[in-house]
Amino acid sequence: GVPSLLRVTPAMLKENNGRKGKPAWSSYEGKVYNITPYLPFHPGGEGELRRAAGKDGRKLFMEVHPWVNWDNMLGECLVGIMVTEEQARP
Ligand code: HEM
Repeated sequence: GVPSLLRVTPAMLKENNGRKGKPAWSSYEGKVYNITPYLPFHPGGEGELRRAAGKDGRKLFMEVHPWVNWDNMLGECLVGIMVTEEQARP
């Protein structure tokens, strides 16, 4: 079926940093991706991609390869959208 998107707070993003068995999430322009399955395939290496884990990866990404279409490449890995802590409260 249609996957439902998570509402991801800054704390949740920081938590999913790819360490201690946690998945590696990274946000790009308000969208949150699980980059874990892509790590072994990243042409720039796993270590470089891990630098964006648990945080907004846009600046690092744009510094290295602004021509790469991340939406196209990571569409399948989309897990949610960023919200503020206030917006996350019921
Ligand atoms: C290369 C994808 C995030 C560092 C590449 C290339 C792709 C790619 C397709 C090959 C580009 C080309 O040859 O024209 C992605 C995707 C990312 C991501 C989809 C987001 C999830 C990052 C981040 C960093 C990074 C956050 C740095 C902190 C590099 C480097 C190369 C590279 C250094 C160059 C490798 C080389 O040619 O020697 N990446 N990347 N990437 N990436 Fe990424």
